[in-house]
Parts: sequence; structure tokens; C-alpha cells
Amino acid sequence: MNRRQFLMTSGLFAAGGLSGLGMASRAQASPVTLTIQSARFALEANPTEGMVSLSPDAPPPVLRLRQGQPFVADVTNTLDDYTAMHWHGLRLPNAMDGVPYLTQIPMGQGDTYRYEFTPPDAGTYWYHPHCNTMAQMARGLTGVLIVDEAEDPGFDLDLPVNLRDWRLGEGSQFIDLFTARGAARGGTHGTVMTANWAQEPVYDAPAGGLVRLRLVATDTTRVYRLHLPGAEGQVIALDGHPLLVPVAFPTAEAPLILGPGQRADLAIRMPASEGQTLTLFNDQPGGLRTLLTLRATGPDSRHALADLRPLAPNPLPLPDLANAEVLEFVFGWSPGDGAVNNGFCGSLGYTFWSINRVSWPGDAADGGPLATLERGRTYILRLRNESPNDHPIHLHGLAFLPLRSDRREIASNWVDTAMLLERETMDVALVADNPGDWAFHCHVIEHQKTGLTGFLRIP
Ligand code: C2O
Ligand code: CU
Ligand code: CU
Repeated sequence: MNRRQFLMTSGLFAAGGLSGLGMASRAQASPVTLTIQSARFALEANPTEGMVSLSPDAPPPVLRLRQGQPFVADVTNTLDDYTAMHWHGLRLPNAMDGVPYLTQIPMGQGDTYRYEFTPPDAGTYWYHPHCNTMAQMARGLTGVLIVDEAEDPGFDLDLPVNLRDWRLGEGSQFIDLFTARGAARGGTHGTVMTANWAQEPVYDAPAGGLVRLRLVATDTTRVYRLHLPGAEGQVIALDGHPLLVPVAFPTAEAPLILGPGQRADLAIRMPASEGQTLTLFNDQPGGLRTLLTLRATGPDSRHALADLRPLAPNPLPLPDLANAEVLEFVFGWSPGDGAVNNGFCGSLGYTFWSINRVSWPGDAADGGPLATLERGRTYILRLRNESPNDHPIHLHGLAFLPLRSDRREIASNWVDTAMLLERETMDVALVADNPGDWAFHCHVIEHQKTGLTGFLRIP
């Protein structure tokens, strides 16, 4: 007997049981109200107009959820534009995934959509719209979402870091959000780099203390190459999931490659003396760029990395590799038939890219899924990048394990986005355990919106 049947037979249903049910679910999780709206904010000396956020004058907030606890968000769209909200990396029911036409009707101005799910996994995730993504993400709407572990791992400071660029020109106002030249190649880079909507911010952290740095690459284009010279630390999670096999802490010679959509959690021990600093750099053409600085404050708190409680693994289904079916996906240039392409909703007006030689045809599921996966079965996705550009390939609703690359050593750790370097082929494995139509695309938004998009179906 389920709860509803119980309520009906016990007579509670007729005697106001319905509102009782409503109260019960509200008591579990009161809805968070998120209002997508235009904003202004000073990234430089002058405030930038025409930004998109969840308040009129501040960055999108860090949302904190709890593993295994229901989350309810009423998202309202006040923009004169369509939208939908996507919860990147979360394994949730398909109807809550926020992909226009594939999982929901996009919200028009004044519409509200209720997103309701219980995150099975702890870790570092993020949220962003999945409709008119170029316009809305490049203008600001990319936020960090944290699912807290049931047991506190014991850091002295937990610092989410939203890494992204902006395309600003004179007077700090937006210039063209992309160029056709960029979209057809590696993407169009921003002109202003920020961490948490600030240029080179400095954060205080207890001297000798332990910092959890949650690095989230939410830029529409940039592939970061990150390191912190002189830092003592460990990589503890990728794309939210605690590591299964160790990953070397980044160095100048081997920086951490973090492409659009990817996350890395680092555990760092602060220097012991007050005033000492650690700097997070991006290694990019032209040299090292400072992203942020951590400054040691107060007396040495004398914590050691070994004091941390290890993160509990997330409950992910291990692939059965002996019985896996291989599905191949080729990411490449588009035959360029001139068709206008809109990568879910809102067109950039060009088609440059394809998956298996077919460009995403338009809004809905016009072309059908790239593949239909049998529920519960293990698959190896062979991701083949035929192009001279990098593509962070992202799958919604499931996590996967990279197995091997033909270009480099890779570690098998759960992720939702695979950074395919130029001409690289990577095999990744997953268990098709979450039913639905799951978007599968490059997270360089200019690529996503000019053809490099599709979806996988798990009936
Ligand atoms: Cu960050 Cu289709 O997602
Ligand atoms: Cu996603
Ligand atoms: Cu791409």
C-alpha cells in the first residue's frame, strides 16, 4: 500500500487529506524562489548593464543542497526572452533537467516552473539556463550549486570559485558575445577574466588551515590550465564525485585542465605564517594570469591534510565492462549545408559542427536520438574528436568513467564532462540507469549552438 492509498483508506484523504499531503511535502523542503532577471554590476570601474542574474545587482548565489534531501525551486522568468533552468551534473529525473523541448516547454516571460528533485550525490555542481544559452550565460547566469555531504569533511574554509570571462568593451558594456570566426574554431574568448565576478580577488584563510577550493569552469569558451605554485594539496573530487583513483596535484609542468562545465575540488593546506599567500594561476598564451589569491591569517591552526575525513563515494553504478556495447560518436566539422541551427532554443545563425556528421537540426527531437540505450545495460561511448579544436563533451543525467585515451594517460574517475583535446579519442563507460532523453553536447556554447548537440535516449 502506498501513502496515497493509505490516506484514502484511512479516511484522511477525504477529510482534508489533500492539504495534509501538501503540508507534508512543504515541511520536507520549502521551495526556493529564483527569479531570472536583468542585472547591473561593476566588474570593472563602470557597472555593466544588461547582465542576467537572479537579483538586480549581485552574482547568481551559491545554492546549497543536502545529499538525499528533497530540493524544490520555483524558477520565474522575468526576461523578455525564453528560458529554462538546468542543474548541471545532477542525476535527477528527466522532467527536472531543464532542456527546452526535450524535457520541458521553455518558460516565456512571467512563467514559473517548479523544479523538484532529491540529489543522490554530494559534491560541486552548477546551474545555468539551457535556452538562449549564449545570450543568457555570457551575460551572467552561471551559478555554483553545492550538494553537502551527510558528514562534514572538516575543512576550515569552503570556497566555491566560479571561473568565467566577460566580453566587455568601452565603458565596460557588452560587445558581441561571439564571433563567427570563433564559433567555427576554438570559440570566442572574453576580454575580462573573473573569479566570483571579481578580478583577482584575495580571500583570507586561517594560516596552516585546510581550504576546500571548489573550482567551477562556467565560462562559455575558456579551457583553463590551472595551478597554485608552492601549494601543498590534493585533488579530492572531479565533477562533484570523490576520486576513485588519485589524480596528481597540478603543477606548472602539468596544470589542471578544466574545460567549460568541468569542476575540480582541491584540498589545500594554507601556509603556516600570517600574511603568506597562494595564488591560483591560469597558464594561457601570453603567460600566467592571476585568478585569485589566498592569504593566510591568524596564528597557525596546525591542521594537516591527513586530518580530513575522506569523502564518501557517491552511489554510482559500476559498469559491467565485460558485457558492454560500444557506441561511437564522431565530433567534427559540419558539412555546412547553410541550415540555421538553434542548439535547443535561440539561433546564432550558423552551422559549423556535427556529431556523427549530422548537425543538430533544430529545436525539438526532430532528428531523434543519436542512440537508444537499453536501461540497466553498460555502454562504452567512443568519443572521437576529428577536429583541431578542444571539445568538452557533456552528458546530462548520468555520470561516466573515462577508460582510456589515444593521446595521454587518464585516470578513471566519475565525471559528467569529458575534455576531448584536439584529435583525441576517448572511451568512457556508463550504466544506462536513468530513463529519459539526455542532452549530449559540447559545452563550448558556440559549438553547442552551431551543431555540436544531440541527445541519448534511455527508454
Ligand atoms: Cu551544463 Cu547541457 O549543460
Ligand atoms: Cu548538464
Ligand atoms: Cu566544442
